[in-house]
Amino acid sequence: MKGIVLAGGSGSRLYPITKIYSKQLALIYDKPLIYYPLSILMLGGIREILIISNKETIPWYQGLFGDGKHLGLTIEYVLQDAPNGIAESFLLGEKFIGDDSVTLILGDNIFYGNLDFFYRALKQKDGATIFGYRVNDPERYGIVEFDAVGKALSIEEKPAQPKSPYAVPGLYIYDNDVVGISKALKPSPRGELEITDVNKEYLCRNKLAVQKIGRGVAWLDTGTPEALLQASYFFGVIEDRQGLKVACLEEIAYHQRFISHDQFVEVISALPKSLYRSYLERILQEE
Ligand code: TTP
Repeated sequence: MKGIVLAGGSGSRLYPITKIYSKQLALIYDKPLIYYPLSILMLGGIREILIISNKETIPWYQGLFGDGKHLGLTIEYVLQDAPNGIAESFLLGEKFIGDDSVTLILGDNIFYGNLDFFYRALKQKDGATIFGYRVNDPERYGIVEFDAVGKALSIEEKPAQPKSPYAVPGLYIYDNDVVGISKALKPSPRGELEITDVNKEYLCRNKLAVQKIGRGVAWLDTGTPEALLQASYFFGVIEDRQGLKVACLEEIAYHQRFISHDQFVEVISALPKSLYRSYLERILQEE
């Protein structure tokens, strides 16, 4: 299983910071936003990762993560010239995906809580799995309609009259057919290759599983200044209460055994003196 983080976009709602780089570098409490979606892929055991972004932002991601080796990952980067749509990920990532299946996560999507819904879906060998999450403002999202037994009936992008309150979060798991399906897509009226069209094609082929995510999981998307502030508060409260960090990539790499104890020690000693380093030293001591 390969993993893609789509982390470019125009970020118009977060201008002016997005004049300089894409929003996934904005700080969510104590670390850049992109750490959160990247941590989800790592928790799913995915170690081969592609980050897609624009030419302004890729060098900053490279500065943060390099080739990923210190995290026990291989991280590659690909340029998206313009925000041509989420489904363009599979064209830009074709070579990276090869013959494999792929999980795509949007760089501004955060999940927190029990991730069993994701771990279960990763075991699925065939077809596509997407998720449904109840929201208050369904007109802003891709919306999935279910029948009485919970089977997906339709998916609509930003419907004026939503048929259900279940939005499709930016976390998608596909078999290798996704590359061919994306190649056959035509841009939508807004000029984008739509992920909803990919999902509709899987639905048409009877190969789309849509799993509901329960209310015990937080799904935050962080496209607006208010959402950034709320997410920062949310993780500030949790981290302060538990004394544990959310989405601390070095810690996850160690706990997932992507890196050995010695490598973890080495990674920590390469960090500058900081609260982040002190935290990792404490994690090491408590082992
Ligand atoms: P969106 O929220 O659709 O858009 P945006 O980030 O460009 O922001 P705004 O609406 O304020 O202009 O994007 C969802 C995520 O996917 C976000 O992390 C950016 C990323 N993205 C790309 O990297 N390339 C794309 O072509 C698109 C459509 C999105």
